[in-house]
Amino acid sequence: MSLDKDLIDKLVNVTSSASIACYMHIGKKNKIIADKAATDSMRNNLNKLDIDGRVVIGEGELDEAPMLYIGEKLGTGKGLSIDIAVDPLEGTNFAANNLPGAMSVIAVSAKNNLFNAPETYMDKLAVSKDVPFDATDLDFSVEKNIKNIADSKNKDISKITACILDRPRHKEIIDKLKNLKVNLKLISDGDISGALLVTDKKYNTDIFLGIGGGPEGVLTAAALDSFNCKFQGRFLFKSDKDILRAKKMGISDLNKKYEVDEIVRGDSIFCATGITSNELVNGVKFENGKFITETLVTHKNSSNKIVKKEVPIT
Ligand code: FBP
Repeated sequence: MSLDKDLIDKLVNVTSSASIACYMHIGKKNKIIADKAATDSMRNNLNKLDIDGRVVIGEGELDEAPMLYIGEKLGTGKGLSIDIAVDPLEGTNFAANNLPGAMSVIAVSAKNNLFNAPETYMDKLAVSKDVPFDATDLDFSVEKNIKNIADSKNKDISKITACILDRPRHKEIIDKLKNLKVNLKLISDGDISGALLVTDKKYNTDIFLGIGGGPEGVLTAAALDSFNCKFQGRFLFKSDKDILRAKKMGISDLNKKYEVDEIVRGDSIFCATGITSNELVNGVKFENGKFITETLVTHKNSSNKIVKKEVPIT
């Protein structure tokens, strides 16, 4: 089933409005309030749409999130049946501290076509589309992945750039990359944007790797699918509670490595509106009584683009 292009405009409105709702909380050192503003706005606007929507990636499980919880029904129930993955405020620290990189993000597919991911970590790998699919793999060593990328791009290893969250858990990988003399792009948060840097040469990023949020992994996969880039993810479970939840969600093989087409099937739409600017999109601006937003839109069955919107203050 193909998703209606009209839905793209509606989803751009949803993420733009959530970004604008977050705007007044930028730099106020309160990530909970900033997240709530984006979440309330996103939920209200999704509920106005003629869709029969179901949250598959949201703010948490029903017992921990009152809004946009996994399984919540959204929309008037009249239209298209869709799966919805949301991250109303991706990069809560960025918004709270007025740093680049906060975005409001959504991805949708036809019903039952988006992976229902548990709230746990995921080991991820994202690579630009000019590298042959088999040249990289989550199960290869860091050295093998980097060497294969360098070989396929006919570049010296010292010209390869790898993006990874700057976390103590990544010390071993970062040390290996340093030994290889790979250029590091260490990010403090926001691994959806980090992984999307492999989509275009202008971002000068050859590989994204490392462990980040599983839900963010599903949103990333939806966007990378439309860019024909490689993405692999493997969930990591810390506690028995995590394992139990995963099993309840139907995951029987806890060590499974997921490819893009197992995370998102068929047509999909992904929208990410900038709250504060990053390399992908500009943040919300307020000029002459209007908010100006910028949204990265990917649509599997048509094209990927940046959409600018002017929203008069009401
Ligand atoms: P929040 O917007 O929920 O704060 O998430 C930011 C983020 O950096 C994600 O992009 C990433 O997947 C995750 O946190 C990494 O988690 P951790 O901070 O625990 O390493």
